[in-house]
Amino acid sequence: MDLYEYQARDLFEKHGVPVLPGIIADTPEEARAAAERIGGVTVVKAQVKTGGRGKAGGVKVAKTAEDAEAAARAILGLDIKGHVVKRVMVAAGADITEEYYFSVLLDRANRNYLALCSYEGGMEIEQLAEERPEALARVAVDPAVGITLEVAREIAVAAKFPAELVEKVAPVFVTLYGVYTAEDATLVEVNPLVLTGAGDIVALDGKVSLDENAGFRQPEHEALEDKDAADPLEAKAKQHDLNYVKLDGEVGVIGNGAGLVMSTLDVVAYAGEKHGGVKPANFLDIGGGASAEVMAAGLDVILGDPQVKSVFVNVFGGITSCVAVADGIVKALELLGDAATKPLVVRLDGNQVEEGRAILAAAAHPLVTLATTMDDGADKAAALAAK
Ligand SMILES: Nc1ncnc2c1ncn2[C@@H]1O[C@H](COP(=O)(O)OP(=O)(O)OP(=O)(O)O)[C@@H](O)[C@H]1O
Ligand SMILES: [Mg+2]
Repeated sequence: MDLYEYQARDLFEKHGVPVLPGIIADTPEEARAAAERIGGVTVVKAQVKTGGRGKAGGVKVAKTAEDAEAAARAILGLDIKGHVVKRVMVAAGADITEEYYFSVLLDRANRNYLALCSYEGGMEIEQLAEERPEALARVAVDPAVGITLEVAREIAVAAKFPAELVEKVAPVFVTLYGVYTAEDATLVEVNPLVLTGAGDIVALDGKVSLDENAGFRQPEHEALEDKDAADPLEAKAKQHDLNYVKLDGEVGVIGNGAGLVMSTLDVVAYAGEKHGGVKPANFLDIGGGASAEVMAAGLDVILGDPQVKSVFVNVFGGITSCVAVADGIVKALELLGDAATKPLVVRLDGNQVEEGRAILAAAAHPLVTLATTMDDGADKAAALAAK
């Protein structure tokens, strides 16, 4: 889960990273009031989960509270790379002497943590990495050691900070690493980290991604979720603890087990080529116990997607027998009643397959077609979606 800048700012403050005061505002009037409370020069900043806000006109300096109101009026509603600005943060203006870059992230490829740091900030980091890679230090961080003051100094030295600044930035790297571990983040990035005229180091912008796998031990993270922005179908699936990812096609897919669902997506995409290029509409793994309730919840989510034209249910009975799955499908269709409107192709195999198929055949639901193999099912579902 990616956080908004103001949420990152709050987390930084909580963990002792030096930040400036910031107040969020949803209207120009609120922005004016915020600027009055902060006093002096402020900066009005678009709160969107994408980079390059400054260049897009989403960051404006305001000398007075009236200026802040006008800036907010200009920024609210702005479209930044497809993200419409609904909220701004009014932050205290910093007296910037120098801008630096620092981040720590999960380096999956190397199964390690990685710190990136540059004495030359102010530039987009992707651009810096490409054009002047020697100016961007990459320091592997051993998770068992972390960023101690000693490691932090090594990072600052590798990033070519002059000696007197090394002592100033190193403790800030240590606290930023504290945010990274305490909050179970996969990314903590500060661009820019600045040196002020008064000689202080301050984090002026923050980007934090939290690891949702750690949600169980981070009860406070749920409140950080942006419920409005989330896909309503994904939100519904989450409520039912379903593993659902919305895709772009027309054939809804339900299966049990991530591997089976992944290969189902492949065969549907392959079969779809013969039927005008229809594609899978989603990934949905209902897991081991394919009970009627779980099946109904899964079908409900998929049928709620207006792009879906047909559904392919591909279940392999293992511990859960095909009888339970077939019962689940029949009861799910009963539960859904008129909400079930799209054709369903069902392929069952495995434990008690004959009995399972017999249950579906006996129910003879008008929307349900039985398939014997996975390829056959994918082909039938693709054909129905292409109609
Ligand atoms: N509180 C502030 N006071 C003074 N200047 C600021 C402040 N916040 C940002 N700036 C200036 O505006 C520039 C852009 O701000 P910021 O880094 O927050 O946005 P961005 O880099 O455009 O967006 P993103 O990081 O999403 O790509 C900074 O590099 C800094 O020079
Ligand atoms: Mg930035």
